[in-house]
Amino acid sequence: MLVLGSVILNSGGAVAQFPALALRPGDLRTEYLANPIGIDVSIPRLSWKLRSTARDVSQAAFQVQVTTDESALFGTDLVWDSGRVTSDQSIHVPYEGVALASRVRYFWRVRVWTGDEAPSDWSEPAYWEMGLLRPDDWQAEWIGPGWEEDLSVSNPAPLMRRRFVSSGRVSSARIYATSHGLYELYLNGTRVGDRLFTPGFTSYKKRLQYQTYDVTELIATGANVLGARLGDGWYRGFMGSSGDRNVYGANLALFTQLEITYTDGRTEVIATDDDWKAARGSVLSSDIYNGETQDAQLEPEGWSEVGYDDASWGRVATSDPSSARLVADVAPPVRRTEQITPIELRPSASGGSIVDMGENIVGWVRLRVRGEAGDTIVLRYAEALDDTGELYTANLRDAAQTDSYTLRGDPEEFFEPHFTFHGFRYVAIEGYRGELDANDVTGIVVHSDLENTGSFETSDAAINQLQANIVRSQRGNFLDIPTDCPQRDERLGWTGDAQLFGPTACFNMGASGFFTKWLRDLAADQRVDGAVPWVVPDVLGPRTSDGEVEPAGAAGWGDAAVIVPWTIYVRYGDVRILEEQYDSMRRWVDYATTEAGSNLIWETGFQFGDWLPARGRSTRTDLIATAYLARSSDILSRAAMVLGRVDDAREYRDLFESVRKAFGKQFVTFSGGLREPTQTAYVLAVQFGLMPTAMIPDTVRRLADDIRERGTHLSTGFLGTPYINDVLTDHGYAQLAYSLLLQDSYPSWLYPISQGATTMWESWDGIRDGVFGDPLLNSFNHYALGAVGDWMYRTIGGIRPDPERPAYKHAWIAPVPDDRLRYAKTTLETMYGTLRVDWGKDTTAFTLNTEVPPNSSASVRLPGTRVEDVLESEARIEIKPGIRSFRQDGDDVVVEIGSGRYRFAYSISPEGILSDQGGQSEPRPFPITMVMGAILALFLWGASVVTGKQ
Ligand code: BGC
Repeated sequence: MLVLGSVILNSGGAVAQFPALALRPGDLRTEYLANPIGIDVSIPRLSWKLRSTARDVSQAAFQVQVTTDESALFGTDLVWDSGRVTSDQSIHVPYEGVALASRVRYFWRVRVWTGDEAPSDWSEPAYWEMGLLRPDDWQAEWIGPGWEEDLSVSNPAPLMRRRFVSSGRVSSARIYATSHGLYELYLNGTRVGDRLFTPGFTSYKKRLQYQTYDVTELIATGANVLGARLGDGWYRGFMGSSGDRNVYGANLALFTQLEITYTDGRTEVIATDDDWKAARGSVLSSDIYNGETQDAQLEPEGWSEVGYDDASWGRVATSDPSSARLVADVAPPVRRTEQITPIELRPSASGGSIVDMGENIVGWVRLRVRGEAGDTIVLRYAEALDDTGELYTANLRDAAQTDSYTLRGDPEEFFEPHFTFHGFRYVAIEGYRGELDANDVTGIVVHSDLENTGSFETSDAAINQLQANIVRSQRGNFLDIPTDCPQRDERLGWTGDAQLFGPTACFNMGASGFFTKWLRDLAADQRVDGAVPWVVPDVLGPRTSDGEVEPAGAAGWGDAAVIVPWTIYVRYGDVRILEEQYDSMRRWVDYATTEAGSNLIWETGFQFGDWLPARGRSTRTDLIATAYLARSSDILSRAAMVLGRVDDAREYRDLFESVRKAFGKQFVTFSGGLREPTQTAYVLAVQFGLMPTAMIPDTVRRLADDIRERGTHLSTGFLGTPYINDVLTDHGYAQLAYSLLLQDSYPSWLYPISQGATTMWESWDGIRDGVFGDPLLNSFNHYALGAVGDWMYRTIGGIRPDPERPAYKHAWIAPVPDDRLRYAKTTLETMYGTLRVDWGKDTTAFTLNTEVPPNSSASVRLPGTRVEDVLESEARIEIKPGIRSFRQDGDDVVVEIGSGRYRFAYSISPEGILSDQGGQSEPRPFPITMVMGAILALFLWGASVVTGKQ
């Protein structure tokens, strides 16, 4: 038992009737971030969490105060005092004070009321600081090394430096920085910040991010040196698989200003200008796909320190300004997040060593070596080994993924690359003359440092491994943009993959800022006709040469424009993302509608369709494209409604209905089947609401039959896979959905795990019978098929968002247990606080412990019981604090609860609590009532097509 203030918490989850904790709000966020600096949002949104484990706690009112006074005393100089606002809004509360100014830090605090009584204590103060809001805030010039380069290859990474004198006591210092290519900054020899791959990957010609660093502590009195190293990165390195480079420009350049404020109020700006000097350093070449070559002998020692003599350095060249809009970054930065010790290091047949990191990671290796100056060590990275125990590299296609390091001959030296990353489990280290042991090799994991918000565990080790693999693939592929893969010559922001995986991503991690950034690039790169590029940022197009397919406008891919903003809205209550993206969303749906033409069947253009289906079972692309047109019209209509655009909501609702009818005419058969009888076709038709209601049972039965006929295997690809288990679970086949999930023979989610996978595979048949699949499409780190994670959280775990009350203001707690699992434990850190569901069962009892954060509520569905049989915290269920209502709903009991902790328990029969209505192992006979129902439905539905009503 834990005693907290006046509350006694019972570790078993039983909830005590004790006075509430003092409700001091905490976890204050501005634009999702804790104390961000350098933001450029003119009306930042403020969020906080109420902290209480008491039941039924809701916010009745709040008061926010904002001041610029550094002592944060919140005296009379407030720039905003909301006063007492009667509202339960505790997330995304817009700042409404005086206009915000560049560079200023704003401190804020909040207190809340939960009833008529006195307010809570004020929160601890939090702050945000504005970046540079106006173009004339910038004094910097674009500068680069100015030397001649062979632009067909990767060139040495320039070093640049500038000496300056700080003349007084510094009260604060900021660096605002961006670049063409990647940059690293150093101040007096110390690396500035811990962000990697800055300024990030955006649609560089339109949007270029800058970062803000607090460098107050790094400024010395007197002489200082600011230094920079630039790398090719996404800007001008190899991009795409056609060997293209210099996609965004040919020259590397830096654009930076350091602003110092002294205690006496003076300010000084040291900006990039022609006083900077440049030279080459140790990085001879760097490339995201190919790796990095360093010669440590060439690194000028102490080059970014004051004592270094830069007489031999050349003057920099100033270059033309960027055409892009400079924007502050909104996504969490890429960072080193973990260090991995290898599980094995052994000699390889080719003479070097092979290191096994034990898991497929993204990042690189830090190598500790001792040797002669001039010795060169080569590190080659791969995801798998071939049957001779050497690296398997065919699936990397043309990406070399190779680093090389030439020693300077120090007693001990460390290698780490600056401007590349690799997807790998194995590293071959060649050319080292010393003895390597595992302690000399450290795996450095890097990715966008999103907050971990979800946890999911069950009694089944293989499912837990699947969850771990999904998370690892999310980490590895959330590297500033949502990539398809981290290892081959691709690593691009494939739109289809992102929209499919988005919901799963939002369970595992706080993904709003990450997707907000990416969606802005999507809108920026969207074509004039509304077509959305296949990849964002769009490095593949537009291509105009004859005969080439334009890399934009594919169904299921371009729909990311509509589906991803909606996902962010539902999961985080983010209305602004709908506002911001609305035009892009609409333009995509209008584009698709035009492509579909008057019969609303989309048959034109290049389509990926149900990409990489199991056993090659493809589904016709007109069916898929039409289904997605319906889906996006449906979502767009809902989004319009949220934004109060009632006419649009109606227009796109009508469009949805029309596409639905067109789909029915074209693809649905009289007996309730589809002219395209594939699993994916059934899944999309049902999941997207395209089947007449009365036909759904029959359609799902056909799906189930198909699965069983394949020995309980799926035949879906990227587009069908995310929803197959939803369709089964929602329509009476939960056991079959579990059987699919627990299947471990090919093709299935667990099959790769049976083969030792530690990440999600791109293809169901990545390795079969010991043979690697098609090397062109055989990434072993691809999150798309991991989109089942969303179903796992919602259905096994039981945490379901309610789109009507987004951000889990109201949640559905509705696990669907299966007899093959003894328990599942799921938590989600929502915008309101921690939502937790733990259920467990044995042969006689089912228990469900749940915790609902303050200022939110939930509907708990207890499967297979009766109201009178349910105990809550050891007592008969009744209306009392927290329990707002309860009811019998068929075989289940539904309890409406407020915040707090609850413990439900009831007896179950030895047969278990659930059985599939149609999910028995034997295919059911085709019931005559179903045939008649289907015929009747079709008749009515046909009539409605004619009359235009439904
Ligand atoms: C990528 C996919 C992507 C697909 C589209 C592949 O090369 O890796 O994830 O969605 O192309 O065809």
